[in-house]
Amino acid sequence: SFFSHQIHSQSLHSASFGIAFDIDGVILRGDTPIGGSPQALKRLYDDSGALRFPYVFLTNGGGVPESKRATELSKLLGVPILASQVIQGHSPFRQLMNRFENELIIAVGKGEPARVMSEYGFKNVLSIDEYASYFKHIDPLEQYKNWTNEQAGYQRSSSREVERKNDPCSQRVEAVFVVSDSVDWSRDIQVLCDILSTGGLPGREISSQPPLYFANDDLSYQGLFPTERLGMGAFRIALESIYNRVYPNSLEYTSYGKPNPSVFKNAENVLMQLPSTINHRVNEQYPFKTLYMIGDNPSVDINGAWKAGQPWFSILTRSGVFKGKDNHPIYPADMVVDTVEEAVDYILSRET
Ligand code: G3P
Ligand code: MG
Repeated sequence: SFFSHQIHSQSLHSASFGIAFDIDGVILRGDTPIGGSPQALKRLYDDSGALRFPYVFLTNGGGVPESKRATELSKLLGVPILASQVIQGHSPFRQLMNRFENELIIAVGKGEPARVMSEYGFKNVLSIDEYASYFKHIDPLEQYKNWTNEQAGYQRSSSREVERKNDPCSQRVEAVFVVSDSVDWSRDIQVLCDILSTGGLPGREISSQPPLYFANDDLSYQGLFPTERLGMGAFRIALESIYNRVYPNSLEYTSYGKPNPSVFKNAENVLMQLPSTINHRVNEQYPFKTLYMIGDNPSVDINGAWKAGQPWFSILTRSGVFKGKDNHPIYPADMVVDTVEEAVDYILSRET
């Protein structure tokens, strides 16, 4: 009938939305789901398990390839997550591949930073752990770090070993990528000072600092500990302050991740490509009427959505960095809720 047709087309039209979920402090704390996140995500699938509404994870975190993170998240959250739904702080590093494809680059951070870069196509990558292991006494505190021997945070990947033409001791490092949070600030700051001031050729002077890229500039983030923990932005400040006191030139660097508007533009493009059963678009140029950013960090998630502008709508949860009663005074969100489950309830009641 005309009536049912009208209802049908209205519901299709109102489904022209997508959702970007922050991870730390919204979906998880550490590896623990929070705020009813598994139930909330389940509502975005139909009974057969097919994706009804397009959504992505938009996190500044990382340290493992997107495909591996998708598998981990699927297990933790009980829904089938595609690699393309995982956008991490370091995901834009892929675009720098052409520039450094065969150059020696150093990957810093927890997890498997070198594997992340190799999967993006970089052919001559060393983790900072591997790199440091080539230089005896580079870290004068190493003998006091009783975790370094047992834990072997790095594996000297035999495949990459073969690909590498020369010993890194005699090669210039052409770029440094901070993929995820530094595990050993004292060692990493020391070794990065060496690399950035000399190009990694100890004792030599260089004319220009190798480019330095950070996956994000988060001062802090919410883990399992009740109050927030220092993030990559704090590490950047430490490195920069020390570098600028020791060397004549100021440290140059580029930070990716939220709140950069390009991250939100990219999320929109990814959302557009996702296979979902209900993804009616308004038109080709502006496919979504509303894109929801659900985040816990006002200066990162909410500020980013605000800077990205239309069609972004920000929802701030109280489950992470933000713990206030009312809205944030400097970066007010379009809406404030306690949990991600509440946020999804609101979106679905508004949109369907
Ligand atoms: O280390 C991760 C943290 O900086 C932010 O993660 O998911 O809250 O963007 P997320
Ligand atoms: Mg967060």
